[in-house]
Amino acid sequence: MTAINNVVDLRHDNGIAVVTIDSPPVNALSADVRDGLAGAFAALAGDASVTAVVLTCAGRTFIAGADISEFGKPPRGASLHAVQDVMEASPVPVVAAIHGTALGGGLEVALACHYRVCDARAKLGLPEVKLGLLPGAGGTQRLPRIVGAAKALEMVTSGTPMGAKDALAAGLVDAVATGDLTADAIAFARQVVAEGRPLKKVRDDSSRLGGDAASLAPMFAAFRASHARAFKGFDAPEANIKCIEAAVALPFEEGMKVERSEFVKLMTGLQSAAQRHVFFAERQAAKIDGLDPKAELLPVKSVGIIGAGTMGGGIAMNFLNVGIPVTIVETKQDALDRGVAVIRRNYENSAKKGRFPMAEVEARMGRLTPTLALEDLKDADLVIEAVFENMDIKKQIFGRLDAITKPGAILASNTSYLNVDEIAGATSRPESVVGMHFFSPANVMRLLEVVRGAKTAPQVLATAMAIGKNIGKIGVVAGVCHGFIGNRMLGARQAQANKLILEGARPADVDRVLTDFGFPMGPFQMSDLAGLDIGWSADASKGETVRDRLCEAGLRGQKNGKGFYDYDAERNRTPSPVAEQIILDYAAENGINRREIGDEEILERCLYPMVNEGAKILDEGMAQRASDIDIVWINGYGWPVYRGGPMFWAEHDAGRDKIAAALERMGMDVSPRLRAGF
Ligand code: 3HC
Repeated sequence: MTAINNVVDLRHDNGIAVVTIDSPPVNALSADVRDGLAGAFAALAGDASVTAVVLTCAGRTFIAGADISEFGKPPRGASLHAVQDVMEASPVPVVAAIHGTALGGGLEVALACHYRVCDARAKLGLPEVKLGLLPGAGGTQRLPRIVGAAKALEMVTSGTPMGAKDALAAGLVDAVATGDLTADAIAFARQVVAEGRPLKKVRDDSSRLGGDAASLAPMFAAFRASHARAFKGFDAPEANIKCIEAAVALPFEEGMKVERSEFVKLMTGLQSAAQRHVFFAERQAAKIDGLDPKAELLPVKSVGIIGAGTMGGGIAMNFLNVGIPVTIVETKQDALDRGVAVIRRNYENSAKKGRFPMAEVEARMGRLTPTLALEDLKDADLVIEAVFENMDIKKQIFGRLDAITKPGAILASNTSYLNVDEIAGATSRPESVVGMHFFSPANVMRLLEVVRGAKTAPQVLATAMAIGKNIGKIGVVAGVCHGFIGNRMLGARQAQANKLILEGARPADVDRVLTDFGFPMGPFQMSDLAGLDIGWSADASKGETVRDRLCEAGLRGQKNGKGFYDYDAERNRTPSPVAEQIILDYAAENGINRREIGDEEILERCLYPMVNEGAKILDEGMAQRASDIDIVWINGYGWPVYRGGPMFWAEHDAGRDKIAAALERMGMDVSPRLRAGF
């Protein structure tokens, strides 16, 4: 075995050269890896003893792509294109042996080989679009030449990888290994040599594209039309489509030029920078400052959930889905039956849509134990309380849990605002208490705020984060403050939105400005969806706020078809004249002068105070880092991922200084962190 450099080595196996990349964690194509590959092929040049080359990777995966951490930095080392050219021009066959994931540049390297062999669990794909990019190493030109333009279009715009079986059927791999991958790939290479099979260069074969520019034009048009909504706001999908069109319309080299120019545009743009930031931010969020990542976690083999309403039921599903038994507690039989029926219906609907077989519905329901007795939680490893937001009731529940549950059980509250320390104070074991704030619908939304109380034990916190990951959530650690990270910032936005509609903007204007920005819905659409009467009671209502008056007038939001908007049977909305009049009357009574308010002011007043609140959250140490706040807003509140989250946006797009100056003009307290940088 010869070490070419620190990450690539070369060995010979009876005439077959085996080039191995060993660059943990994912064998990304760093400068060292590219240099190593270039060095290995240079070492092989002119070596007459070598009849074929097998390219393998050590560790958990084949090359998972270009090294994203190098993007935006000055280029170093051999260029990927040059390395691919050398491999493709090799006078002896080059066979890629793929395990784990061949993604992005990884698959593009494999596509520059003459043959590909993978193991049965391998996944192959071009996920660049998720980073706001397109495959920039020939992927857009080679992939359609194998799987056809239609399939390639779907793969590059969704970023979804293909499994081994599909890859074999599509011709993306030539064989699936049944035994040891490297041994099988070597045997495959020998067979290619023995049979004198050609050096298959993907670039040279356009026979599988599926048609020419004219015949495929309707397919491209239909694809654009059917995906317009999903791609709205994003630059990368259209650039990917253009490149696949170029693969169909142009010779390989010309297509490569289109790919290059589109790639450079995306790579130097703000959207990709934002999406790359989100990629790393997501992984960073899992890290808890000051905690040993290898520390032992508490076992969570059974879960208790208190409350079988929308939230409790949704939370329960997360655990049932991954095989963890759940005991769900309600106070009344009918509420319990209703909650269980909703869970069953959700599962049946998923099965009808083909997400899993009907038998799986029973398997999941079989893990659920409904009960009216809190005492049934005595053996649970983790209990999550999901009753409505009332401190006295929560304290009562936690006091009882303290008496009932076994020592060491984690006691979590799903509160979205309340003081977790006060809740913990109702127990004799505050170290076991933590907040686990799910977002509605809890079985769908990826965000989980894990609230660290003053006395929460590190092991409890780490376990809550780990269990979140286990059920497919992105956990973010938050400190104890009103509304934690997400709702606290949402409060700052809503306060401004409420003022704006009194000062002259219409609710529909505010919603439009925010949906144009990229949110799936604006604040007033959101209020209508949630229900205007949440937390409102007719008895206590004194008509003191616009919301009181809307509720008093019978406007409850989408649920009764009347709110800031009127809704028809298909939920199409039009601004409500009743709501409009209530707002005008309220403004007049309170002596508020109405004026024309422009879109820019709406945007600034909604978003700048939110960023300021985020900065205050950092000032107070309530979030570990600015990027965690971005993750909260992207995964919990629909902040457009191509804008990187509120803190990224403030830093790289809107500008912190500009925001601080505007906040001063608005007479607001500016966070020191906003001035100094996150
Ligand atoms: N570049 C740099 N670092 C990477 C990386 C990459 N392409 N892919 C993963 N990493 C890092 C992660 O940041 C993480 O680092 P950390 O431990 O310090 O937080 C570590 O590798 C492990 O990653 P994960 O936690 O994500 O590990 P998983 O096992 O859960 O997932 C994976 C592995 C499926 C490979 C996943 O990491 C992934 O999807 N990676 C990105 C793949 C990708 O997008 N490739 C395309 C890159 S762009 C490109 O190739 C352009 C080309 O066309 C020119």
